[in-house]
Amino acid sequence: MKEKIAQIEELLVTELAVCDSLQALDALRVKVLGKKGELTALLRGMGQLSPEERPVAGQMINEAREKFTAMLEEKQALLKAQAQEAALKRETIDVTQPAAMPKAGCVHPMTLVLNEVVDCFTGMGFEVVEGPEVELDHYNFELMNIPKNHPARDAQDTFYVDDNIVLRTHTSPVQARTMLTRKPPIRVICPGRVYRADEMDATHSPVFHQLEGLVIDKDVTMADLRGTLNAFAERLYGKGITTRFRPSFFPFTEPSAEVDLTCVACHGKGCRVCKGTGWIEVLGCGMVNPHVLEMCGIDPKEYSGFAFGIGIERITMQRYGIPDLRLLFEGDVRFLGQFR
Ligand code: DAH
Repeated sequence: MKEKIAQIEELLVTELAVCDSLQALDALRVKVLGKKGELTALLRGMGQLSPEERPVAGQMINEAREKFTAMLEEKQALLKAQAQEAALKRETIDVTQPAAMPKAGCVHPMTLVLNEVVDCFTGMGFEVVEGPEVELDHYNFELMNIPKNHPARDAQDTFYVDDNIVLRTHTSPVQARTMLTRKPPIRVICPGRVYRADEMDATHSPVFHQLEGLVIDKDVTMADLRGTLNAFAERLYGKGITTRFRPSFFPFTEPSAEVDLTCVACHGKGCRVCKGTGWIEVLGCGMVNPHVLEMCGIDPKEYSGFAFGIGIERITMQRYGIPDLRLLFEGDVRFLGQFR
């Protein structure tokens, strides 16, 4: 019996030495201590022993079982520790390795241009004011001298929230809001979103941007308007860029003009961008209609003023040679990233 146990121990020792995984160890445990294992077989064979031998053999087997179990457990602890160490090695994070950099964003080309335009005017002493995009009919139309039957009021052109509330169709209502809350001299600009019920195409969008300007003081003339806009054109585009005034009509200004800038693409020679004219239309302007001054609480006998409304999309497209308005609204970073 002793010999048999020693044989099993020898087997266990050699196999433990080469055992390199927890699965192999478990198989070894079953092979020695399992129900059909070698030691269990010895236990079964005890029936053939004499009654005197049996307790001795039983004790030997039990001691062997304890010893083998301890040996197996020791090896198991070792293998587990090794496995854990290997896992830790595998999963280490190299904190010194440079991280994947997040993509940096960029400023939208319209914001770039708007910032420049705003800088031009603040540099001339204008103050930036704002007004609501959801506007009362009263400010958007009534105080801008746009009569009840005017086509601009048609629901086909204007987004109505209800009978008296619209999405502002221009930034001009901020003129009224400013005159009603400030005393002259007034020198403000108001950049912002405006809305019109247009289908989106290469030159139209239901939402776009304007920058309104308003100056009210004593003895303000059309020459001041022209000087201001010429200064603006030069600051934005450089020397040699000037304005051309064409007579026009707006209900809130009298007289009114539409203003072209020298085409930046060809410097006035005529090209595809300006359709051969040498000029690009960018804004509407005029002397504030005395009736508007009156409605907004300013005495037209004492004060006069001028106003203008610049299309920011127009200027941006012209500035960067962007052929389709939709590019400005699609948010495609491959396009937008080009204007840093
Ligand atoms: N509000 C006009 C528009 O949306 C633009 C405009 C024209 C604004 C003349 C003005 C102005 O202040 O004087 O088309």
